[in-house]
Amino acid sequence: MNSLEQLVVSAQADFIAAADAAALENAKAKYLGKTGQITELMKALGKLDPDARKAQGALINAVKVQIEDALTARRDALADAQMQERLNGEVIDVSLPGRGRATGGIHPVMRSWERIEEIFRSIGFDVADGPEIENDWTNFTALNSPENHPARSMQDTFYVDGSDSQGKPLLLRTHTSPMQVRYARTHTPPIKVIAPGRTYRVDSDATHSPMFHQVEGLWIAEDISFADLKGVYLNFVKAFFETDDLQVRFRPSYFPFTEPSAEIDIAFGSGPLKGRWLEVSGAGQVHPTVVRNFGLDPEKFIGFAFGSGIERLTMLRYGISDLRLFYEGDLRFLKQFN
Ligand code: DAH
Repeated sequence: MNSLEQLVVSAQADFIAAADAAALENAKAKYLGKTGQITELMKALGKLDPDARKAQGALINAVKVQIEDALTARRDALADAQMQERLNGEVIDVSLPGRGRATGGIHPVMRSWERIEEIFRSIGFDVADGPEIENDWTNFTALNSPENHPARSMQDTFYVDGSDSQGKPLLLRTHTSPMQVRYARTHTPPIKVIAPGRTYRVDSDATHSPMFHQVEGLWIAEDISFADLKGVYLNFVKAFFETDDLQVRFRPSYFPFTEPSAEIDIAFGSGPLKGRWLEVSGAGQVHPTVVRNFGLDPEKFIGFAFGSGIERLTMLRYGISDLRLFYEGDLRFLKQFN
């Protein structure tokens, strides 16, 4: 190997050994810089005679091209490596599973709510919805609980600051019964409706929650009797609990808005609750004063109403013993219904 060939080999080795761009520039200076070996060889050409200068010049130029090619190749390789490193650092693993969007389930109380709507719709009841912030006239007065009447204290509630557009004080409705009034005043008989919804009372223990759900039922026409109430409610509980092996009884009670009033109890003929009378609803024949507040003549129109707790029905259906489980949001509990 002559000295020019050796120069190429040595330059290639130096360039390969350069680990980064700065080291490569230093290695380049050694050959192609102002005092680099190729530069020195070029300078020395001046001392040769013209023929020798031409021949030697061509050789040196060929070597210079080889060294420059080696330099360019190494520069590219280093740039590629740097780019690769950056890409590796920014890598996104598209095969990672996404942040899963869990599918929710229907809350057991909502499940009951939907079933109740379905059952009553199937026998011709309309389904109505109304405000949870109610005025005290519709919640109490229209339902035959005058101001200062002791019956109002049966349902202690949350009052809301301010009043409605007619100056009536506002409160969170204590029952769905005001929906009887709202619906009857805006529809003409025959009136056949249920109104499920949220209700509120100042109450909190294993069987009472400050927020709970009721379903109101109302059927008013010229000839609706207690017998119709019994038939409708028996049909409902049989469908709701999916059994015919069940009895219903009416126990005398008191509500200001019905006369006579009753509590409806049921008893299953089998299962863990077999033979026990379980209270499921208040009910009664709508009081003439309330019918008048509907804007109807109580001499002409008559009918029944009932109000049942949806939590209560749900607890009986699934055998749940503590109402608070419904509101704690514990997935171990909730998942059992989905
Ligand atoms: N509103 C009553 C309550 O919350 C339940 C009730 C009883 C509703 C008798 C009625 C009824 O429609 O006729 O305690």
